[in-house]
Amino acid sequence: MIRPARLTDVPAFHEVMMAAGMDPRSSWSRVTPQELEAALSAPQAGGFVALDGDRVVGCVGYRPDGPQTLTLNRLATRPEVRGRGLGMQLVQAVERHAQDTGRQRVLLAVSQFNLNVLPFYEQLGYVRTADLYAYAHPASPPPVVLVKDIEQL
Ligand SMILES: CC(C)(COP(=O)(O)OP(=O)(O)OC[C@H]1O[C@@H](n2cnc3c(N)ncnc32)[C@H](O)[C@@H]1OP(=O)(O)O)[C@@H](O)C(=O)NCCC(=O)NCCS
Repeated sequence: MIRPARLTDVPAFHEVMMAAGMDPRSSWSRVTPQELEAALSAPQAGGFVALDGDRVVGCVGYRPDGPQTLTLNRLATRPEVRGRGLGMQLVQAVERHAQDTGRQRVLLAVSQFNLNVLPFYEQLGYVRTADLYAYAHPASPPPVVLVKDIEQL
């Protein structure tokens, strides 16, 4: 089951992120629970969690970049639940939220340390763009930016 993330989910959301097996050079590994809480509670930002029973096993965040674009970040599922469609459902939850809030596209950045995830997003209809990712980490190598147009209701 997928549901909107609550502030009480922050510790579990953070734990899923840290269990994801991301490259330690990525800024992902240095996100603190405090930063996560601030990001999830920023204006027009939020996230979703995937549950297996009561347990949080997946997470994703979003935040706006101007009125037309919703950026997706912090997508992860626990290694032991991968391949069950939860990653895809978390992406789709963000896409639906973009649609519900009248945005035209979902944009995301893939770290140079994580390029093997590109086929996952391409399978979901994301294409590379030359557009910049507004929240790129200044100390990290430039990410690959992907975008998907959202059909308006
Ligand atoms: C990327 C991630 C969230 C996918 O989660 P998941 O729960 O396995 O996703 P799904 O089960 O919905 O997979 C959907 C499809 O994508 C495929 N897929 C998943 N990860 C893939 C990858 N790294 N490369 C290629 N295909 C992938 C699955 O095989 C599945 O295809 P199928 O339906 O044809 O079998 C998960 O691998 C993860 O947490 N990775 C580490 C964190 C990360 O890289 N996050 C992205 C940051 S940009």
